[in-house]
Amino acid sequence: MMKNPISIIILAAGQGTRMRSALPKVMHSLAGVPMLIRVIQSAMALKPEHIYVVCGHERDQIRAQCQAYPITWIEQKEQLGTGDAVRQVLPLLKNPAERILILYGDVPLIQTKTLENLLENTEPNALGLLTVVLNNPTGMGRIVRESQGKILKIVEEKDATPEQKAIIETNTGIYVMSAENLQRWVPKIKANNAQKEFYLTDIISIAVAENAVINVCEVVDKQEVQGVNDRQQLIMLERFYQIQQANQLLLSGVTIIDPTRFDLRGKAKISQDVLIDINVILEGDVEIASGTIIGSNCYLKNVHIGKNVEIKPNCVIENATIGNDCKVGPFARIRPDTVLSDGVTVGNFVEIKKSQIGKGSKIPHLSYVGDTTMGENVNFGAGAITCNYDGVNKHQTVIGNHVFIGSDSQLIAPIIIEDDAFIGAGSTISKNAPANKLTLSRSKQQTLDQWQRPVKKEEK
Ligand code: UD1
Ligand code: CA
Repeated sequence: MMKNPISIIILAAGQGTRMRSALPKVMHSLAGVPMLIRVIQSAMALKPEHIYVVCGHERDQIRAQCQAYPITWIEQKEQLGTGDAVRQVLPLLKNPAERILILYGDVPLIQTKTLENLLENTEPNALGLLTVVLNNPTGMGRIVRESQGKILKIVEEKDATPEQKAIIETNTGIYVMSAENLQRWVPKIKANNAQKEFYLTDIISIAVAENAVINVCEVVDKQEVQGVNDRQQLIMLERFYQIQQANQLLLSGVTIIDPTRFDLRGKAKISQDVLIDINVILEGDVEIASGTIIGSNCYLKNVHIGKNVEIKPNCVIENATIGNDCKVGPFARIRPDTVLSDGVTVGNFVEIKKSQIGKGSKIPHLSYVGDTTMGENVNFGAGAITCNYDGVNKHQTVIGNHVFIGSDSQLIAPIIIEDDAFIGAGSTISKNAPANKLTLSRSKQQTLDQWQRPVKKEEK
């Protein structure tokens, strides 16, 4: 109904003592994203004119992590309550007709559509209030209504009578009203309550005294408006959120063997018929194409994985691209800037860093490949390694197509191994190896016929 521009105030100055942390409470992460940033992202989707974030003495620490967002930072020097926090913003509000939405930095799962619903259902000049009915309302402000149901006020737990404590309709702390009303109501708040704080909740009774309309919107999904005061509450919300994400993936055609043992800390684009076994962590930006299997205990961060790939258990893959039909692991580590072309095999205890591996090449066991460009259909034998570091600088290894690197060889970079070259097992290769030839550096094997097994000396 109200179509005036919107600005948003996010309260984040509370000390968060119950977190018992050097990190400001609102910077603790849920699914890899600080709570405050989650709230800012939901707020941004409403296209507000301004976002004001009220914070305390940790302002600089918080600000440093939110640089990507257009925030007006406001400091509340002393934490005198939510009413006092909002009061700090009042002088900056220049357009009386603007709608002001108030959010909390410690309510991380608030959804844009819920806020839109509140905005749509708040009449001009009214106070829009988001409420939630809870089985256990402990700690929440209670909505006090008169017998006909008209809202009278909000009472905080610490100020509530036993009858009021029995009320299960509670305050989420999220409100909307015009800047003009906010600027008139907030200065009337007094700190005459159990905590000697300026409660923002008092604007309800102040508005009622003016006969202003109170529009109530009820949230159905209780977790969405759950505040975080301690680590236990944070972790409960995290689990709720993770299971929700897993369920969405299940419905979209991805098998997640156990949704309670799945973590997505970022964004994932996962195609149909992907199977994800237990204890997999996906972080950042992850893309997995159809038919791929991710084995148990894998950690994948910023990876793009093609079709019909098998990532066997216990792999760590970061900032890498894996082509179609590859097999990786178990126990493989693929480090940043690695690209595996289609049909590559990387076996157990193999580490690959900043390398391009050509189609169909195999690095099956116990190898290190770093700063390397490897051609197609190369066989990189067991235990073979690139020596890319001279103690000061990193150097490149270039391996052509159809090359065979014998087991336990060391390729000392910078070095080029040409197409179809063969490197004999156990070689230390420090000069380029030519195409189509066997190159090896190995002392000749000999057998000493006169040799005798040593005999233990007799003790005197
Ligand atoms: C508040 C509400 C309560 C509601 C609950 C919902 C008041 C008085 N009570 O209680 O009715 O049910 O939220 O979660 O508003 N903050 C500041 N400056 C301050 C104090 C707080 O910025 O001086 C910020 C906090 O960082 C937090 C938010 O305001 O983000 C809420 O403060 P908190 O102390 O957690 O209020 P609750 O006791 O949870
Ligand atoms: Ca709270």
